This record gives sequence, structure tokens and C-alpha cells, in this order.
Amino acid sequence: MDRYDAVVIGAGNGGLVAAIRLLQGGAKVLLVEKHNIPGGFATSFRRGRFEFEASLHELNDFGAAGNGGDVRDETFDIVANSCETVLTAMERAGINAPSKCRAGGCGYCHSRLIDGKYSIAGADKRRLADAKFVFIHPCCTYPDSDMEIEVPAEV
Ligand SMILES: Cc1cc2nc3c(=O)[nH]c(=O)nc-3n(C[C@H](O)[C@H](O)[C@H](O)COP(=O)(O)OP(=O)(O)OC[C@H]3O[C@@H](n4cnc5c(N)ncnc54)[C@H](O)[C@@H]3O)c2cc1C
Ligand code: FES
Repeated sequence: MDRYDAVVIGAGNGGLVAAIRLLQGGAKVLLVEKHNIPGGFATSFRRGRFEFEASLHELNDFGAAGNGGDVRDETFDIVANSCETVLTAMERAGINAPSKCRAGGCGYCHSRLIDGKYSIAGADKRRLADAKFVFIHPCCTYPDSDMEIEVPAEV
């Protein structure tokens, strides 16, 4: 205990914020968590191709004025051309996007389309639910306009 000014038990949102504020104030902090990942209720889990929110899905009054900020996500603005797949463009830009079959069949790369036009190389092998809820498979999708997509984290 001599080595720390404060011990924070639990790395949920409360513990994480408390530890960060103490660190920002110059304190030496030990943050202990009994689970194998931080986050507490602010977490998600994966089953197959799907990621489920455990609880928290919305934070208010977070981030700087005019920039609410994403909690765990990064935003990338990349250049792509219509002769390469969206996955290739992301990889060329150094983004570690998920992929397995790279042929449109497994759905592992499925990403939510927010905006933009696209073409699919060959047959559209997406599950009905992916097509219905406007998910694309970047491994076999070519951009026909600027596109905005939400890509799941590689785990
Ligand atoms: C279904 C649901 C939906 C929600 N939706 C929202 C929402 O949309 N927006 C919102 O703002 N809030 C939401 N909340 C509330 C929000 O998720 C919680 O208020 C917040 O995440 C709690 O953070 P916390 O740090 O207080 O506790 P927790 O997240 O519970 O964290 C406590 C941590 O302490 C660890 N711990 C416990 N005991 C020990 C020990 N002895 N040693 C070491 N570690 C320990 C636990 O493993 C855990 O990681 C929701 C909650 C639920 C259940
Ligand atoms: S990596 Fe299998 S569908 Fe894209």
C-alpha cells in the first residue's frame, strides 16, 4: 500500500473514471478488477458473427462541446477506389478489419452501412438478415460513391 496513493476496486465506468481523475491529479493509483476485461456493465460479448451489448448503449454529456466522441471506437477517413474491395482499401490504410473467407460467404467481415452506394462482386451471399438490416461484406463490396460504414472490432 506504501507504493500507491489510492487503490480503486473495480474497473467499471465508475472505477475507470475515478482512477483516471486520480492519475490526472498526480496520484499513484492501483486499479484492480476481478474480471478478465475492464468495463463492468459497459461491455459486450460475441457469439459467432454477432456482438451483443450487455447493457450500456448510450452516454450523455460525454466529450468536448461539439464533439460528443465515441466511447471505444476510432474513426478513419480513408481513400478507396472503385476497383478494389472496401476490405482491401481498409487494409491498405492500415486498419485491422476482420476477415476470414474473403469471398463473401462467411459473413465474418459484415459491417453496417451508414451511407453510400456499392456493388457486390459476383453473387450476393449475405444472409437475409444482413441484407435486410443493411450490412455489407467489405471483402467483396466495391465502393460506387463515398461510403460510411461501421466495422466490428477484430477480436
Ligand atoms: C441493462 C442495462 C442497461 C444500461 N444502459 C445504460 C445506458 O444506456 N446508459 C447509461 O449511462 N447507463 C446504463 N446502464 C447503467 C450503467 O451501465 C452502469 O450504471 C455503469 O456501467 C455502472 O458502472 P460502475 O463502475 O458503477 O459499476 P460496474 O460497471 O458494475 O463495475 C464494477 C466493476 O467492479 C468489479 N468488481 C466488483 N467487485 C470486485 C472486487 N471485489 N474486486 C475487483 N473487482 C471487482 C466488477 O467486475 C466490475 O467490473 C445500464 C445498466 C444495465 C444493467
Ligand atoms: S470475410 Fe467472409 S464474408 Fe467477408
